[in-house]
Amino acid sequence: MKLDTLRPLQGAGKRLYVETYGCQMNVGDSEILVSILQDEGYRYTENISEADVILVNTCSIRDNAEQRIWGRLKEFQRYKKKNPKLIVGIVGCMAERLREKLLSESPIVDVVAGPDSYRDMPRLLELAAAGSHGVNVQLSEEETYGEIRPVRLDRNGVSAFIAIMRGCNNFCSYCVVPYTRGRERSRDPQTIEAEAHELFDAGYREVTLLGQNVNSYKWEADGAEVDFPELIDRIAAISPMLRVRFATSHPKDLSDRLIDVMASRPNVCKAIHLPAQSGSDTMLKAMNRKYTRQWYMERINAIRSRIPECSITTDLIAGFCGETEEDHRQTLSLMREVGYDSAYMFKYSLRPGTQADRIMHDDVPEEEKLHRLNEIIALQNELSLDSNRRDIGKTFEVLIEGKSKRNEAQLCGRTSQNKMVVFDSDGSLEAGDYTTVKIEDCTSATLFGTIIAR
Ligand code: 5AD
Ligand code: SF4
Repeated sequence: MKLDTLRPLQGAGKRLYVETYGCQMNVGDSEILVSILQDEGYRYTENISEADVILVNTCSIRDNAEQRIWGRLKEFQRYKKKNPKLIVGIVGCMAERLREKLLSESPIVDVVAGPDSYRDMPRLLELAAAGSHGVNVQLSEEETYGEIRPVRLDRNGVSAFIAIMRGCNNFCSYCVVPYTRGRERSRDPQTIEAEAHELFDAGYREVTLLGQNVNSYKWEADGAEVDFPELIDRIAAISPMLRVRFATSHPKDLSDRLIDVMASRPNVCKAIHLPAQSGSDTMLKAMNRKYTRQWYMERINAIRSRIPECSITTDLIAGFCGETEEDHRQTLSLMREVGYDSAYMFKYSLRPGTQADRIMHDDVPEEEKLHRLNEIIALQNELSLDSNRRDIGKTFEVLIEGKSKRNEAQLCGRTSQNKMVVFDSDGSLEAGDYTTVKIEDCTSATLFGTIIAR
């Protein structure tokens, strides 16, 4: 079966265990790493205690993401005691940010590799096996791992992520990503299309095109240019049975053409993740977001007028440098004004080396940050529940992802709007099938319904 060629190989060879933290880009990078190392004879394992090599793909976005990894490294000491030849590698954003510091502060780390040095991993692991340290934190202006076929480590076989670009040029003042992932670069459309085709042929029914700011995707070759609306149109043309999603969109680059492509292609999912970060113009300016609240609302209105059923989700930061109570109220009022379907909500966490670290003051007290975050979360719970209640009585096409976790007799899947739906199985349907479900009930996180005959 074709599907197996995308899955990790089993067999002899050094056993590689990979643990992934952070965003979906990291999930994709782990799949690239496994692919590179598999070609060198390594074999993937899900059992950490039999690993010869442990790779931890790390995140630096907030301090607590890094603290979790420090804690995990302490836990790894016991595996190293049991197997002194075990190699531990730290890869990804934290590796890029902290570099040799990881070696000096943790006695068990052998390899440190930044996000652009994964092709070098076989050599780095050899260095470690020979008793020295393997370090490569060189960032690249070109590396996209374009032609590498990621080994799919997911289990559902229905939805997959495709990285279409890497890095970021936006330098939001709070954000570490431009420093850990380097400059923005786009992957060539041919390998992206080939990857989507291959996934579809293997039974996948949904791809999510990934980048830090997909709207600035651009590929130029031989005088021709492919931008994001063009790319998404091409991927959507592979098959009407293949759903296409994307993340993340920077509001400043969300074009009318993209909205038009979304509106004209039924299989481009009606969901836009449009991080606002704050509802206050003062904060947006301090954050270097390059748009105002009014401009953001104009984009929301453009989406709503062309695609009324589109879900809109966001990221919000509470307690950024200099944020007053009034700024915070503005965020709450923006949330109400947009009526977000869901949101990722964070407390501001100072990241060393960013603009905010260098020229601003992290002056909102910790308790106040937490208080504001809790207000934001409470409001979003209300808004998510409102949004789900509005779906009761409506019917949706659902792509089935598998059995419901809570109840084996039920199936779960997503609507085009990316909402999770749970419903009774009719016995004939399985993961990867589409069905039509009428919504009858909900919580703030899940819709519940029944299959209706088409
Ligand atoms: N502190 C808190 N949240 C942050 N994010 C990025 N940097 C920080 C930070 N220093 C959030 C933003 C971004 C999401 C991926 O993480 O909301 O959109
Ligand atoms: Fe974390 Fe950002 Fe790096 Fe993703 S890109 S792993 S969110 S720091």
